[in-house]
Amino acid sequence: ASLTINASTLGNPVSATLHGAFFEEISHAGDGGLYAELIQNRGFEDATIPQGNTLEDGFLIPKRTPHFDMRNGGVSDWKLPWNVTSDYPGWYPVTGKNGGLTLSLSINHPLNTATPHNLKITISKPGMLAGVANTGYWGMNIIRGDTYLLSFYLWTDGSYGGEVKAALYSKDSAILGSHSFLTGRKAGWVKYSCTITAKKMDSHAHLVLSFSKKGTIYLDFVSLFPRNTYKNRPNGLRKDLAQYIANLHPAFIRWPGGCYVEGMNIQSAFDWKNTIGPIEKRPETYSPWGYWSTNGFGFDEYLRFCEDIGAKGLFVANVGVSCEMRSGTFIPDDSLQSYIQNALDAIEYATGSITSKWGNLRAHNGHPKPYPLEYIELGNEQSGPRYARRYNWFYNAIHTKYPNIHIIASMGLGDVNHYTLDSMQHVQIADEHAYKAAFWAMSNYNHFDKYRRDGYKVYVGEYATNGGVGRGNMNATLSDAVYILSMEHNGDLVSMSSYAPLLANVHDEDWPVNLINFDASKSYARISYYMIQMMAKSRADVNLKSKLLLQQDALKKRSIFDGGVGFATWDTQAEYKDLEVIQDGKTVYRSDFLNRPNEWAKVRGTWDIQDSALAETASGAQTLAYLKGRSFDTYTLNVKARKLSGT
Ligand code: AHR
Repeated sequence: ASLTINASTLGNPVSATLHGAFFEEISHAGDGGLYAELIQNRGFEDATIPQGNTLEDGFLIPKRTPHFDMRNGGVSDWKLPWNVTSDYPGWYPVTGKNGGLTLSLSINHPLNTATPHNLKITISKPGMLAGVANTGYWGMNIIRGDTYLLSFYLWTDGSYGGEVKAALYSKDSAILGSHSFLTGRKAGWVKYSCTITAKKMDSHAHLVLSFSKKGTIYLDFVSLFPRNTYKNRPNGLRKDLAQYIANLHPAFIRWPGGCYVEGMNIQSAFDWKNTIGPIEKRPETYSPWGYWSTNGFGFDEYLRFCEDIGAKGLFVANVGVSCEMRSGTFIPDDSLQSYIQNALDAIEYATGSITSKWGNLRAHNGHPKPYPLEYIELGNEQSGPRYARRYNWFYNAIHTKYPNIHIIASMGLGDVNHYTLDSMQHVQIADEHAYKAAFWAMSNYNHFDKYRRDGYKVYVGEYATNGGVGRGNMNATLSDAVYILSMEHNGDLVSMSSYAPLLANVHDEDWPVNLINFDASKSYARISYYMIQMMAKSRADVNLKSKLLLQQDALKKRSIFDGGVGFATWDTQAEYKDLEVIQDGKTVYRSDFLNRPNEWAKVRGTWDIQDSALAETASGAQTLAYLKGRSFDTYTLNVKARKLSGT
């Protein structure tokens, strides 16, 4: 076989912004993940379900950390079902010899309106130990020599005076580091803070606050942060996870969702204004994925991360619609103005001058310079005439005020809907979502070829092969790779893409296949991560006209790029072998996986060579081009396949 590339005929250019990233608060991607806070349920808000939601929806069953009991030597049961409820998840009473205390969730003496709940602690017998423990998110990763910043608020009526000891314990109850405070006799809320440097390490550690005197006190907003965060930012990000994202060099980051933007219902939907300012004053958001998000990884933290890694911001605004799979409520059109204003305010907050209202608040919150926000998406997975109508209103308001912001239309869970497009006045970019089964990409290599061209671009805002691939395997990666090649092939149309979901805590996976998996101390990226990294790093600039000649069993040469193949049915046991790239007469690459019987050809059953072989050989050729910097003379592909019928 031979491949001829005609370098003098340039085809579609490949978009420089093709590879981005998409962050959503799903599977504890943020809280208990990228956001480095170690305390779970720090504000004691994670117990109730927001008004208007019901427990009947499976997604709404509160997820709970496993039971933790100090007396039994730490975390005692990691296998409790997630629907175990507690009034104060993440927190447990701990008592040593003769110690006695009771805990209850309270709404007395709210610290502020954003964190109305707190924990009432009545110490009846201080004994050897009487206190409360927090398990973190399935354990805390405490590293020897690292420093941790602890803060919490205590309310007393002024009569309580005693010692409060904060200690980090290992799973088997060894003290890793501690600090003691003396409470003054001041009535009301008092903030306590300290640093603790760990003398030992444990990846399943927990924090215990214990009290030396009898009495009643209230506890709220307990925060424990490693000082060592990504780029040492306060209220920052877990280093290993942030580094994974940074190493993808995404052109942009889409945030914060996904269904998360839409909310279970309109009342509990995400609002960026709840995610800025002091962390204890940020109201939490009830995620459609069944837990409360602290909003600690808020608008500033997200945009600063974009800035830190050289990515552009892509903010998704709610357009007055809640998640279609749940309540699917569209607020009435005549109540939309506040949503339009909210989207405009978000852009002003991120990019406005410090003399503007929201730009000034950004400066006040520590970032006078504008952030690199360049895109706004209107809604998530909405489509149809109702959505199209409100898209037009949002579009006009935003485009008039911010002509340089790129505006993205959402497109439902699936392909670009031309019917919806036709009802929109102007579409710059349309976001299609593509969760597909294994090998879909191979038999649909021409998916984007069929799209009409009339000026709009496509953003594949969420894609992943997640059917028939377990939790993600090589077949998933090959399919993802071919899908990306089809985007490149249609570079005149497809300008952006982002894999989804990006992050998942292995203790609470809401989605079958995720790009980066982690627990409290460890993390790994799947093969697709490395494939996307490779594709982004060696992204082609332009498509070149090429011609592939295949040598088949009867040594007949056929060009499949030029459509000279005709139709034929091939044995399911077809396999590719010995893929080799020759440059200046020398072998510069010999494939690994194609040297083995080709598993992914085998499982697909009978196929039509005109579609499938085109996709596969094109992917093989282009993948090699990436591997070797696109500089090669010829490659040899020996195909062993048994023709069953056809021409
Ligand atoms: O990525 C997971 C979910 O898939 C997103 O929240 C939603 O947009 C899509 O349906």
